[in-house]
Amino acid sequence: MYELLKILADGEFHSGAKLGKQLGITRAGVWKRIKKIEERAGIEIISAQGKGYRLQHPLELLNEACLLQKLPTTVGLHLFQKLDSTNDFAKSHLKNSKRNELVIAEEQLKGKGRRGRSWASPYGGNLYMSLVWPVTEGVRQLSGLSLAVGLAICEVLEELGVESAQLKWPNDVLVNNRKIAGVLIELVGDLSDDACAIIGIGLNVNMLNSPADINQPWTSMAIQLGHSVSRNEVLVRLYTHLEKILCQVREKGFGSLRGQWEQKQAWRGETVVISTSSSQSTGVLQGVNDQGELGVLMEQGLQFFAGGELSLRKLHDS
Ligand code: BTN
Repeated sequence: MYELLKILADGEFHSGAKLGKQLGITRAGVWKRIKKIEERAGIEIISAQGKGYRLQHPLELLNEACLLQKLPTTVGLHLFQKLDSTNDFAKSHLKNSKRNELVIAEEQLKGKGRRGRSWASPYGGNLYMSLVWPVTEGVRQLSGLSLAVGLAICEVLEELGVESAQLKWPNDVLVNNRKIAGVLIELVGDLSDDACAIIGIGLNVNMLNSPADINQPWTSMAIQLGHSVSRNEVLVRLYTHLEKILCQVREKGFGSLRGQWEQKQAWRGETVVISTSSSQSTGVLQGVNDQGELGVLMEQGLQFFAGGELSLRKLHDS
């Protein structure tokens, strides 16, 4: 399926006979793979008598040579056609690395979201990446880390013309109240010794149609901009912004980014419901403190909330 997609990626017509020859399969075999691409990746393919097959929209695949040229040489690059989850790969293969490692996949078969949810990861449309970020100075380096990641994503979106991206604590990125990116950070190792943060990011880039497994309002860069975007370029920019912002957290703490984060904060001043696995409470959403904890004005006064397993929704959205 991947070999066929690589050939079709140019958006031109390719005849079934020629495709069969290139792939060493029959024309019926080509047709079967075309159906598989349509079903699994949600990619539209046009077939025309006498001409063959072409993609409805040309597809830019992630290009290892181009990425290696543009990314700093200090980061290790691991590019896959498919993985269960880039976070899981990073956790099992790269957790002891002393340098930054970037794992990317064109498709995830078991993409993970926060709070046990899944993350829709169709082939070739979006970015699914995990950055392995070694943590050498213990917990202090981690406070606010996930908020900083959201901020880096917002910066890239803005740079590429996607306006009014907002951050819903701790790190959902929303445009017009629709989710465009999500972040899942997992910590591995012993924080009093060597540890690393696996920073997983899913960013909707060129996705236009809703895969069956998304159950919340979403958008993508292409929907916002009205044209498709180079994922290779987005990835290089995202890495550059991430590295810069994460170094700032390491050196100066999240407090140095707090004002910037609050400027992009979604739902500030709104009445929200905060849920943990066992309880729910209501209050008015405030800003964050220097540790990235969320302030909520409740009956008993201002309370701060930490931790990634909380969820937030507007009171009247329920
Ligand atoms: C969320 O908002 O719930 C977090 C979504 C995080 C998705 C990314 S995609 C790359 C990385 N690998 C995963 O399995 N999940 C994260």
